Parts: sequence; structure tokens; C-alpha cells
Amino acid sequence: MNLVLLGPPGSGKGTQGELLAQRHGWPKLSTGDILREAVAAGTELGKKVEPIMAAGDLVPDEIVLGIVRERLAGEDCREGFILDGFPRTIPQAEGLEEILRESGRALSAVIEIRVSEEEVVRRLSGRRTCSQCNAIYHVEWKPPREEGVCDICGGKLVQRPDDRPEAIRERLREYREQTAPLVAFYEKRGLLRPVDGAGKVEEVAAAIEQQIAALR
Ligand code: AP5
Repeated sequence: MNLVLLGPPGSGKGTQGELLAQRHGWPKLSTGDILREAVAAGTELGKKVEPIMAAGDLVPDEIVLGIVRERLAGEDCREGFILDGFPRTIPQAEGLEEILRESGRALSAVIEIRVSEEEVVRRLSGRRTCSQCNAIYHVEWKPPREEGVCDICGGKLVQRPDDRPEAIRERLREYREQTAPLVAFYEKRGLLRPVDGAGKVEEVAAAIEQQIAALR
């Protein structure tokens, strides 16, 4: 199954993508995680994108398309994949179609996770992320067993620089302007599968599974 998870920042794409990967074994490809790893490693790419990401702006399409093209060529993506945070603009969606067409593949569905902006702000302000394995926590709804320490790898939990209030506002603006038009883009292609993302993590996961079951 070749899936895209679409939704505003904080809608739960990373959380649900990880659960889908565990349940089905498809790799989860998060452009945000790949870019953050480049920033942490201090590579040329990382140095270029660090200020863009910290401000909550979008990284240029050609950079992200290059990353995705390389990643989708991986052996582990042959049986399926989950794209988290990509595509985010119409040119990225068109680029993805071309990349998949070249390798004789196509998208199976685009799962749109719908959540209000109010809820998004609540979620992002309380999010903590593992600096080593990218596992996602929330101070209130998914706290780690030991404060500040990842349950999975023991890594240090940090607040993402783009989870500051002004960066959250900018990310939501970018989403409304650049990414929301993808809803109509994929609806036209008959690929859009909306789910209500406002419930508990398990409820949202069940709604996504229902959509996937209907595709089989
Ligand atoms: P990216 O890393 O993709 O961030 P995002 O899209 O803004 O999404 P988030 O990771 O913030 O949220 P999420 O939907 O994954 O929610 P999560 O599961 O963590 O992108 C970051 C930056 O990288 C961009 O701003 C841009 O600069 C750059 N970038 C990346 N891709 C790009 C692209 N394609 N083009 C250009 N630039 C790109 O959940 C959030 C919180 O809520 C967590 O604390 C979680 O525990 C909690 N939570 C989740 N579900 C629930 C629930 N049901 N109930 C209660 N709490 C919940």
C-alpha cells in the first residue's frame, strides 16, 4: 500500500504513521525527520534548511523532491510506504506522481487527518520529541515514564524549535496557503480518504484502519 498522510502540523501524522508502520511493516518516510537529522548532523543540507525550519517556513520543493526520490528508490519501499509530511505543495504532489510513474507505481490513497487549529496548538505546545530516535510524546496525553527521557531508547526529550508559538502560527499559515489545496488535488483524483483526527490516538488509528481495509 502506497500511502500519504496529509494534515496540518500537529494533526497526528507522525503518531499515526508510526502505528501504521508497526502494524503493516511499511516504512514511514517523514521529510521533517530526514531534514531534522540533517540539521542535527550539521551537513551542508542541514545548515541550509535549519533557519527555514526554525521559522516554520517550507523548505524549497526541489530539495524535498530530491530527498523523496532517493528514499523511494530504496529496496524497503517496494512493498509499500507511508509518506508523512510530503507532499506539501502542488509542485511536490506533481513531482511525486512523476517519481512513482517512472517506477511503475502509483498512490493507493491519501489519508487526510482533520483537526481544528485550536486542537493543533494545544498538541504542539505540549509535544516533546526524542533527540535520538524521533519518538513522539506529549506532556499531558502521552508522557514518558521518566520525565525528559525517551521510553524507547533512553534519549533526551526536547521541544522542537518550530513548536514555539510564533513558529506554530507561521506553519499553520503555510499549511492553509500551500498545503490545503492538496485536498482538492487528491479529491479530483479519487484518492482522498478523510478521517476525524480529533479523537484519542486509538480512535484515530481505528478510523485509518477502516479506510485501509476498504481499499483492499
Ligand atoms: P514536519 O516534521 O513534517 O512537521 P509538521 O507537518 O508540521 O507536522 P508535525 O510533525 O508538527 O505534526 P504531526 O502531524 O506529525 O503530529 P504528531 O504526531 O507529532 O515538518 C517540519 C518542518 O520541516 C516544516 O515546517 C518545513 O520547514 C520542513 N518540511 C518537512 N517536510 C517538508 C516538505 N514536504 N516540504 C517543505 N518543507 C518541509 O502529534 C503532535 C502532538 O500531538 C504530539 O505531542 C502527540 O503526542 C500528540 N497527539 C497526536 N495525536 C493525538 C491525539 N489523537 N490526541 C491527543 N494528542 C495527540
